[in-house]
Amino acid sequence: MKIKNICCIGAGYVGGPTMAVIAQKCPEINVTVVDINEKRIEAWNDEDVENIPIYEPGLSDVVSEARGRNLFFSTDVDAAIDQADMIFISVNTPTKTYGIGKGMAADLKYIELCARQIARVAKDDKIVVEKSTLPVRTAQALKNILDNTGNGVNYQILSNPEFLAEGTAVDDLMDPDRVLIGGDIDTEEGNEAVQALVDIYAHWIPEDKILTTNVWSSELSKLTANAFLAQRVSSINAMSELCEKTGADVSEVSKAVGMDSRIGSKFLKSSVGFGGSCFQKDILNLVYIAKSFGLNEVADYWHQVILMNDHQKKRFAANIVKTLFNTVSGKKIAFLGWAFKKDTNDTRESSAIYVADYLLNEQAEIVVYDPKVKKEQIYADLDYLNSRSEEENRQRVTVVNQPYEACQDAHAVAVLTEWDEFEGYDWQKIYDNMLKPAFLFDGRKLLDRKKKEEIGFEFYAIGS
Ligand code: NAI
Repeated sequence: MKIKNICCIGAGYVGGPTMAVIAQKCPEINVTVVDINEKRIEAWNDEDVENIPIYEPGLSDVVSEARGRNLFFSTDVDAAIDQADMIFISVNTPTKTYGIGKGMAADLKYIELCARQIARVAKDDKIVVEKSTLPVRTAQALKNILDNTGNGVNYQILSNPEFLAEGTAVDDLMDPDRVLIGGDIDTEEGNEAVQALVDIYAHWIPEDKILTTNVWSSELSKLTANAFLAQRVSSINAMSELCEKTGADVSEVSKAVGMDSRIGSKFLKSSVGFGGSCFQKDILNLVYIAKSFGLNEVADYWHQVILMNDHQKKRFAANIVKTLFNTVSGKKIAFLGWAFKKDTNDTRESSAIYVADYLLNEQAEIVVYDPKVKKEQIYADLDYLNSRSEEENRQRVTVVNQPYEACQDAHAVAVLTEWDEFEGYDWQKIYDNMLKPAFLFDGRKLLDRKKKEEIGFEFYAIGS
């Protein structure tokens, strides 16, 4: 089976970049990315490709090559579903904020809406691909909806979780460690559908990196991968606290430990905690699934990864208060960075939000500078917590476009994101313009301690 038309529902951090790369690599396939968010689609179609809604290194080049040729962005979801042979579902699957499973389970309402819309519109057979991260066995629910509410056409459901990391999305898509495709491999139709998707990826990915499994293994592998990655961060962060008490340096510990080839060196960097839209939500979802099967020990084991992460954010903020003579009331704290990691404008679950919230509860004044995050986003993140009124957030938090302006007259500077440019600043100038003693808190182990102490900073870094 040769795929000619692809539709992707959801033009977000996953749908946008993945489809842009598929379109670039498969010029004979028409790829239409649809979304109900008109503003987002408008931005994807902006004449100036630098204004596309998602910042990822290299993404604007890929989009400008394919857009208008075989890559299209649209709000006409029905039309794109109708024309497609293969439909990717790439919508958001946030943690539920209501009802059963509140705060733990994945909210699948957007997925279900997609399934019902596909069922209503489709007039010929379709392959439906789960690109969103979903609880294991969701394909069963999708199939039920499609088979029972559809127009009698046949559906094949595939699971094709996305392993890209924000900040390196384009490189990860161009040269992934593996591509995982789960399908109904016990049937001929299922195998054909799997092969159709394999053929797409085989345009640029060596076949030995394209892994095919049954649907359930594929769905569960994505949750497992995120749980393992986050667990490494929480493990090294747990050690960072012990380092601070004992005179060990967590960077030296991670280097020594990571050189063991059984452990490996990646994802062993201590920090103010992981953020991003995925790790927390996917682990909570995993915990919920384990609990729903009565596997309490499994659930508790993974839940600890989240508890450790919360602890790390809290103790970073608490240390700022303690170091500033036990009060930050009315004091100006400059935040360098708001994004959850460097090279992205995504702020979802960013540690900066929670550190700011803690310090605002202590009546601090916060000034934020981030190279890519817009002011409205920062206020929206704080408003979402509902900790105080929107007016108060705007009174107490200022967002500026210049790092030196952020640090001017500050009592303390805190590094919350590991943007490369931060170390290159004129730190003497920053020091000269701060109140003394000038406190500097490095939540990312990014800055050179010795140089900063020579300038005169009172320097604190996670894990040393
Ligand atoms: P996102 O929130 O950036 O994008 C989702 C988009 O879907 C939104 O623009 C929303 O308007 C749209 N949408 C929701 N319901 C719709 C509907 N019924 N019809 C049309 N459009 C609809 O989310 P993101 O980050 O792209 O994540 C999508 C999925 O991919 C999630 O399940 C996530 O867990 C998973 N994922 C995310 C990764 C990441 O780095 N962000 C990495 C790997 C997987």
